[in-house]
Amino acid sequence: MDGEYFTHKRVLFPCSVYSPETLSSVENEFQVRDDDLFNITYPKSGTNWMLEILSLIRCEGDPGWVRSVPNWDRAPWVESNHGLEAALKYPPPRLLSSHLPVQLFPNSLQRSQAKIIYTLRCPKDVLVSLYHFSHISRVFKTPGSLDSFLEDFLSGNVPYGSWFHHVTGWMGLKGNKNFFCITYEELQQDPLGSMQRICCFLGKELSVEQMAAVVKNASFQNMKTNEMSNFSLIPDKYMDHQKGGLMRKGEFRVGTTECD
Ligand code: A3P
Repeated sequence: MDGEYFTHKRVLFPCSVYSPETLSSVENEFQVRDDDLFNITYPKSGTNWMLEILSLIRCEGDPGWVRSVPNWDRAPWVESNHGLEAALKYPPPRLLSSHLPVQLFPNSLQRSQAKIIYTLRCPKDVLVSLYHFSHISRVFKTPGSLDSFLEDFLSGNVPYGSWFHHVTGWMGLKGNKNFFCITYEELQQDPLGSMQRICCFLGKELSVEQMAAVVKNASFQNMKTNEMSNFSLIPDKYMDHQKGGLMRKGEFRVGTTECD
């Protein structure tokens, strides 16, 4: 199976896990709650890393939850067919993930006090990570050369649309007290300082030891060997596990490291 896409409001989505009906329902009917916490990213920007961090912060650094429940059930992707069902059954306070560009996000966000954490990553690294992942994922189209994929990436002709539009769209919320933005590179360079800032945004008081436990249990190595976090439990029809996995290199380019 090679991924097929449909276009919804000028953005591409993979057919096997999304539908126009679900996307419309998420945008127009889904009710965001004041106690929701959203983990939002453009794909390959550290979504699952942040998901792990937020799961661990919720448990004060205790790895019991991240080692027993798959990440897609701990923080369902609200716009996918499976994710919407899971989100609707999730007992509050909900931890939810999304790759949606801001213009397709639930309208009810505007009337809520829900918190949003937006993680962004250097687009060069996003491009390379997405290129490799598109060879592994059966949900995505197998790309041709890196050059042609770069053309598609730059023109937004990839799932979830343009990286540039995604980032500029969500950054429009900067300054809102319920919006927090951090980079993949900051998480790499200053893990403990990043935990402090995230906990402060969430109003969650963790001791230094508990924050260190979050950092340790969400490390690349620990996530790579945790089948609840490394996508190895994803059925073969969605992912060719022979070709690789989610946890590829986990590296970053030296350069811009902050949101500002
Ligand atoms: P690479 O392909 O560059 O290795 P997403 O979760 O948004 O799909 O992003 C996947 C990228 O995040 C992959 O990048 C993966 O290796 C990296 N990643 C996942 N967990 C990580 C962690 N704990 N530390 C650093 N990078 C991590």
